[in-house]
Amino acid sequence: MLRSELASLRQSGKSIGLVPTMGALHEGHASLVKRSVKENDITVVSIFLNPTQFNDQNDLKRYPRTLDADCALLESCKASIVFAPSVEEVYPEPDTRQFSYPPTDSVMEGAHRPGHFNGVCQIVSKLFSYVEPDRAYFGEKDFQQIAVIRRMVEDLGLKLQIVPCPVVREASGLAMSSRNTLLTPEQREVASKIYATLAESKDYAKGHSVKETREMVIQQINATDGLEVEYYSIVDGLTLQDVEEWSDSDDVVGCITVYCGDKPIRLIDHIRYKG
Ligand code: PAF
Repeated sequence: MLRSELASLRQSGKSIGLVPTMGALHEGHASLVKRSVKENDITVVSIFLNPTQFNDQNDLKRYPRTLDADCALLESCKASIVFAPSVEEVYPEPDTRQFSYPPTDSVMEGAHRPGHFNGVCQIVSKLFSYVEPDRAYFGEKDFQQIAVIRRMVEDLGLKLQIVPCPVVREASGLAMSSRNTLLTPEQREVASKIYATLAESKDYAKGHSVKETREMVIQQINATDGLEVEYYSIVDGLTLQDVEEWSDSDDVVGCITVYCGDKPIRLIDHIRYKG
């Protein structure tokens, strides 16, 4: 149904943008949809809470589900088609495909969430084949995810453009995320320390080494009640390999994952030092 509708639109020369989401939409998603609407004739937004990318079943269980509100937001953003399939439709059989793009998918999130990027590639490759978009829009909050998807697109020889879109932040600086709704108002306040510290570290980095900067960020965040850093890696923005010196690369990014609260919510963010 989706395929045939899109095939006839494509035949009549319409360009297609795809915004893949897992629902629980917020202003960050809205910015992707608005950009796609601006750059394409047709914008398809998928809403699918993909079970194969969750290595922690509790995380999947408590992931917010807000389909009615999501549809209202998408209507206000003028998305053309909302595609919200069931798990059975997407995975009539278990997906046994293995995607492996080291080191991009094996460091940071890849090391801490085994199987996560394999699941992301499974669903995103399926969405690409259903929709065959000209452009696909992803938020830079999931910085590593974009790098992995780029590798997959190259590997599969797909002819589409990946469009990374800037992180949208709450007034406090906290990166918008569907998981933020699981935080109490106090935790939200505390979590704003993550970006405040990353922003502060940009200045600090001017007079300190990579190692010192990394330590400063970890210490400062861990010193905040209710926050615990899982990892902070300062990497080359393309290869995602650790850099030892600021001069090692023209594109240097700090990627962080922090647990917030006692039923910990996992939050990720990043900052660009160079590039
Ligand atoms: O970034 C997300 O929300 C998900 O990883 C994605 C790309 C929609 C795949 O399920």
